[in-house]
Amino acid sequence: MGRLSIHKLKEWKAQGRRFAMITAYDYPTARLVEQAGIPIILVGDSLGSVVLGYDSTVPVTMDDIVYHTRAVVRATEKAIVVADMPFMSYQADPNEAMRNAGRLLKEGGATAVKLEGGSHIVPLVRRMVEAGIPVMGHLGLTPQSVNQFGGHKVQGKTPAAAAKLIADARALEDAGAFAVVLETIPAPLARMVTERLSIPTIGIGAGPHCDAQVQVLHDMLGIYDDRRPLKHAKRYAVLGAAIREAVRAYIDEVEGGAFPTAEHSFEMDEATLAELAQ
Ligand code: KIV
Ligand code: NA
Repeated sequence: MGRLSIHKLKEWKAQGRRFAMITAYDYPTARLVEQAGIPIILVGDSLGSVVLGYDSTVPVTMDDIVYHTRAVVRATEKAIVVADMPFMSYQADPNEAMRNAGRLLKEGGATAVKLEGGSHIVPLVRRMVEAGIPVMGHLGLTPQSVNQFGGHKVQGKTPAAAAKLIADARALEDAGAFAVVLETIPAPLARMVTERLSIPTIGIGAGPHCDAQVQVLHDMLGIYDDRRPLKHAKRYAVLGAAIREAVRAYIDEVEGGAFPTAEHSFEMDEATLAELAQ
């Protein structure tokens, strides 16, 4: 059967069929999200924040993404797996960028890569697509530039910034990108971009008019209760509390002698026991 084709997504857009993307970073979570029916999984560099304990995506390395992408690919057979290109894996040198993108497909097993940025990366996107590497774009609040933005602020609010974002989205489509993530921009701007592109827009904090949505798995599942609440993140479960409760119950039962019982133990036959007793 094989994995979903990236070209299906454009067909879905043309049919007005909305879809969901979600991040996953390891074997168990990738399995679960595919079993739930997710057509497209992002091995995001949000890995740095939600799995590796950094305070931004900036420290994430190529090796980190390759390692986690391999686990996600092993866990899935139908979903498109998109791997994020981490900070400074594509900004310094186009040849290095090509080799790094290639690693995500060759070593990681990803179907496609995602890069942050607009017009300045368009030549690189074109080169990747021509080399056979499908590319997803990412515009708006691009977290790798958090130090340049000076925080997590809504992007594209002025007429000039909005016009630049629309032009960047068009340029990415022209360069051959198969989809573009729009992060933390006003909903009306995301709607305009969505209407003007033939490739799908995938929103996060970009309102309801995008063709698709993406969420960070750990935010959606409520793994953390102390992570800065993001306006665009919706909690569909409170697994952090559920995990803590389960581990507490286990600790209590071990300390109190309620676990394990005979049910969780192995017996020995009487004859062996008798022989040992002599
Ligand atoms: O790294 C990530 O999770 C992302 C999404 C938020 C789009 O880039
Ligand atoms: Na990312």
